[in-house]
Amino acid sequence: MSGSIQRHGNMATQWNPVKDMPDLLGKVAVVTGATSGIGFHTVKHLAAKGAKVYFTARNEAKARKTQGEQLKLNPELSAEQLPWLLVDFEEIESAARAAELLGSKEDKVDILVNNAGGPPRALEHSSAGWEKSMASSHIGHFVFTNRVLPLLKKAAASPDADVRIVVVSSNAMHLVLPPNYALDFTKSELLYGTLPYTPLKYKLLRPLVFDVNMLHYAVSKLANAMFAKQLQRNLRSQRVPIAVLSLHPGGVASDRIHEVFKPWVWPLVSGNFMPQDTGSHASLFAATAKEIRVEERGFMGNYMEPIGVVHAGHPLLHDEAQARDLWETTQKEASTYLKGKGHGGLLLVLNLLLSMEDTFTWAEVGSAFKNSRMYLRAVLGFLVTLSLFSLVAFLPAVIRGLARQPGSEAEYAGKEYTDYDDTSRYNL
Ligand SMILES: NC(=O)c1ccc[n+]([C@@H]2O[C@H](COP(=O)([O-])OP(=O)(O)OC[C@H]3O[C@@H](n4cnc5c(N)ncnc54)[C@H](OP(=O)(O)O)[C@@H]3O)[C@@H](O)[C@H]2O)c1
Repeated sequence: MSGSIQRHGNMATQWNPVKDMPDLLGKVAVVTGATSGIGFHTVKHLAAKGAKVYFTARNEAKARKTQGEQLKLNPELSAEQLPWLLVDFEEIESAARAAELLGSKEDKVDILVNNAGGPPRALEHSSAGWEKSMASSHIGHFVFTNRVLPLLKKAAASPDADVRIVVVSSNAMHLVLPPNYALDFTKSELLYGTLPYTPLKYKLLRPLVFDVNMLHYAVSKLANAMFAKQLQRNLRSQRVPIAVLSLHPGGVASDRIHEVFKPWVWPLVSGNFMPQDTGSHASLFAATAKEIRVEERGFMGNYMEPIGVVHAGHPLLHDEAQARDLWETTQKEASTYLKGKGHGGLLLVLNLLLSMEDTFTWAEVGSAFKNSRMYLRAVLGFLVTLSLFSLVAFLPAVIRGLARQPGSEAEYAGKEYTDYDDTSRYNL
């Protein structure tokens, strides 16, 4: 029964964005990694329903080409409806800059789909030293999402709002990683690619089946889903009604999917991969389906498999302490890196101001402080900045005071003594 939803518990087995997506006129959406594959089709459907859709690309040539292809597919759209942001998510400065640019153009964002990513060939590192899939899928998007959050919160403040953050994860997390895999997210080394051990299953599969580094990719995709859960907890404690969802899109025949497999494997498995358009439906369901709100407690913060089936995923996904540790480790790593680049104090103070902008009650301010050590550091940064300003402002007076000779007759001759702090008056 195409175009309708067949339910079993919270399951929606058939869902067709063309028929089932609500009207999105007036909404602002952002889709990362939309120059091809799932992201491209996610943009296509969101725009067709009337949303203004920002998409990210790594360079202008790709952005122009993507925009051109979208406009050719749907001549009713305009270029203004499909603006781009240039971002390389491996570089967190690039992610932060793009979010700032977005903030200068828009007052609010209704839908954010974190989609960019993919497995690297081997164990490779970003310029900051983080393992590449962790850098782009998790750390870059962590920074981007947190910077876009004030815009999402603004959208969520309107009475009829339905604001969503969608994180495209993967079932690789529980297919590749053993259930008892002892990852420790308190350790920043994990972000640099140090893993407890190489699971035997992967040792066997890697040379036979995979042509890419599926192990580190799987860890980054687990981080994606853990991030979504923790972000949902943070927002809940701040009573911000944004839904955060993570998902596996299904096996999707995106342009480079064959590179994942050894050449002899792809022809054998390719028939199981769905067309790219269909591959975008799970993201679109998470981003727009009304069902998410109706069965709020079942979906929000959770990981889904296609389409709309809440799935347990990897056991670590249910370890709240680990999700909190991942959040704090990532925050520490990202802010230390940015500080090293000379953005530290200012960025932290800006973060505080941005996060407090829509924090109205003391209880919420309290929970914001409790939820993140960054705010404490931001306050310290603010106080240090204030002290430095005061020092500079009072420096001339201090210098004058030091230069003054105590008890000098010439200085005080014929003067009324009004300065009671001046010890020379008492000539003790
Ligand atoms: N296809 C599947 O079967 C499958 C299964 C599970 C999960 N997923 C997930 O689905 C998402 C989309 O994948 P896809 O299959 O559609 O692959 P795709 O066609 O290769 O698209 C990936 C998109 O992400 C962009 N991207 C990759 N790394 C980036 C970075 N560091 N900075 C900025 N942009 C970056 C790519 O841009 P460039 O063109 O510049 O590289 C491209 O636009 C990924 O997160 C993937 O992990 C896919």
